[in-house]
Amino acid sequence: MPNEPVAVTCKVCGGHVHEFLDLGRQPLSDAFREPESVAPEFFFRLAVGRCESCTMVQLTESVPREKMFHEDYPYHSSGSAVMRAHFATVARRFLDTELAVADPFIVEMGCNDGVMLATINQAGVRHLGFEPSNGVAEAARAQGIRVRTAFFEEETAARVRAQEGPAQVIYAANTMCHIPYPESIFRGVDALLAPDGVFVFEDPYLGDLVAKTSFDQIYDEHFFLFSGHSVRAMAEHYGFQLVDVDRLAVHGGEVRYTLARAGARVPSAAVAGLLAEEDASGLSDLTTLRRFGDSVLRVRDDLMALLRRLRAEGSLVVAYGATAKSATVTNFCGIGPELVSYVCDSTPAKQHRITPGKHIPVRPPTAFRDPYPDYALLFAWNHADEIMAKEEEFRRRGGQWISYVPDVRVL
Ligand code: SAM
Ligand code: TMP
Ligand code: ZN
Repeated sequence: MPNEPVAVTCKVCGGHVHEFLDLGRQPLSDAFREPESVAPEFFFRLAVGRCESCTMVQLTESVPREKMFHEDYPYHSSGSAVMRAHFATVARRFLDTELAVADPFIVEMGCNDGVMLATINQAGVRHLGFEPSNGVAEAARAQGIRVRTAFFEEETAARVRAQEGPAQVIYAANTMCHIPYPESIFRGVDALLAPDGVFVFEDPYLGDLVAKTSFDQIYDEHFFLFSGHSVRAMAEHYGFQLVDVDRLAVHGGEVRYTLARAGARVPSAAVAGLLAEEDASGLSDLTTLRRFGDSVLRVRDDLMALLRRLRAEGSLVVAYGATAKSATVTNFCGIGPELVSYVCDSTPAKQHRITPGKHIPVRPPTAFRDPYPDYALLFAWNHADEIMAKEEEFRRRGGQWISYVPDVRVL
């Protein structure tokens, strides 16, 4: 007898979640290993589904948070000049608007190495970051930024409210989608947010995932894949309202959602615009999501055919950017060091380690030039402009980039 499929319930509304894509057995996406490590590696089943009630797209299995976010969490947000500029702009916008009041206070969840709060701190504005990964939290503290090494949740947020009063802004970038316990988050926001305050978060947008077949946005840390519709439903479920949306180009396409307490603000025309666009494209329909699943299989097959051909021809193929995203690509497609010799990355915490699951060596960017490879598979495709500008010489010497977003091509 085959096993009965486990009934999966939505982490927002408790509705039934229909699985539409199975990406197989996957390791922790940021668990870069010492090459000599013999410790067993943690694996889980990476599959994604859609809630039939609120349309929220989510993983069908979640990984315990302490396995992902801890002292050695290797992702440093400040590693990209484009992202540093992006977050400086975000901070300045808050300073000019919501924080232009007497004694303003802003709280960020997932402040990482302080990439956004640095600008707030320089402006002398009262702030607090929540960052459970202590290594990156220390990097923020070293710049004078106030950070608590803790998960933002109901209890920790309520404590801050009691000690420091209400916040005009609660902000999270690339963090809300990492959190499979939204009820506790919204209770925390409810406790801490000023009556007319805003809860703002920006995360990868389901519309961009589907349009670009960027299935590598699906990994352990990305528990939710938000859309305008699903975020509006989530906000209303917890007594809030979606009052503004902004499409962002960063990280391959994101949306910044602005939430306020129900009835506190008038939603902008952009909200209705995004929802109408999603209705017209059928973004949240299961048929659309299943078609996306078919495109993923096509990308996998095309990429494997290309890499096998290049290897058979004797070309040196390496990768660029040991992204968390690339764990999904390498483990789903079956790409190990026999196809991609090594991956170059600027993050010291990842260098001289091996990638999760497929164990491709990670080397510093200096290795990219010594010698230049024939082909470079761009795992950090979301930083393409920045990386290609930095590595202009590679192309000048006849090297070629390989991308698999939105489809497999040699650039
Ligand atoms: N905001 C930064 C950015 O956009 O580059 C960092 C994003 S990083 C992908 C996600 C961060 O969220 C990690 O540093 C992780 O430790 C943190 N995190 C995870 N769960 C959290 C929670 N409940 N409260 C606060 N931070 C959390
Ligand atoms: P991300 O796509 O999750 O932001 O990760 C990007 C990875 O790529 C991160 O490990 C840092 C690395 N990287 C480089 O090696 N060189 C670069 O110029 C940039 C922008 C990123
Ligand atoms: Zn739901």
